[in-house]
Amino acid sequence: MQVKIIDHPLIQHKLTLIRDIKTGPKEFRELLEEVAMLMAYELTRNLPLEEIVIDTPVAKCSCKTLTGKKLGVVPILRAGLGMVNGVLRLIPAAKVGHVGVYRDPETLKPVEYYCKLPSDVAEREFIVIDPMLATGGSAIATIDMLKRKGARHIKLMCLVAAPEGVHLVNERHPDVEIYAAAVDERLNDHGYIVPGLGDAGDRIFGTK
Ligand code: PRP
Ligand code: URA
Repeated sequence: MQVKIIDHPLIQHKLTLIRDIKTGPKEFRELLEEVAMLMAYELTRNLPLEEIVIDTPVAKCSCKTLTGKKLGVVPILRAGLGMVNGVLRLIPAAKVGHVGVYRDPETLKPVEYYCKLPSDVAEREFIVIDPMLATGGSAIATIDMLKRKGARHIKLMCLVAAPEGVHLVNERHPDVEIYAAAVDERLNDHGYIVPGLGDAGDRIFGTK
């Protein structure tokens, strides 16, 4: 199973609060945004740098600046929206694409309903974001869409993953690195992650 667990203590502490049934939508949204920012910090650890010379008020200074491909962030609607602002606080220049996919409650298969990506897809490195990776269907449908439009460099960032989803993404898209704060035990008969955190979209937007 290829997945990078981001086990920073702050992320693990906040994840516990997010999982807690007593945490309401306002706090859930705030915590999810904070965790997304902390995870983005880890995800971008190996971004390439180049040297440039600038003038400080005192002297010339050879300093590092980001180089390489520009970044794109793609939240999977709806729940991925809860992580966008956290990522953008660290990477404000990233462009944001949106992919709409929901899981059919009966079949658990992904249903695609929206796709709007930056025009220069092939020139960007993408981070697909969604708090939940359950069966993996939604993430795979999103990555398929991105690749069909020309994307070549994609990472997947989720908060909680199920082993089933990790295995399927590994199998269908072995080039895509998966980052998660936790890989839980399993899926239940309704395709929910156990112990998980419930329905992420409903908890963010208070729809249940
Ligand atoms: C949730 C979640 C993921 C998907 C994961 O979305 O945010 O997108 O389920 O499940 P999968 O790995 O089995 O595909 P949902 O379908 O509930 O849509 P919503 O975000 O609009 O509520
Ligand atoms: N989608 C969610 O929001 N939660 C789960 O546990 C599984 C899929």
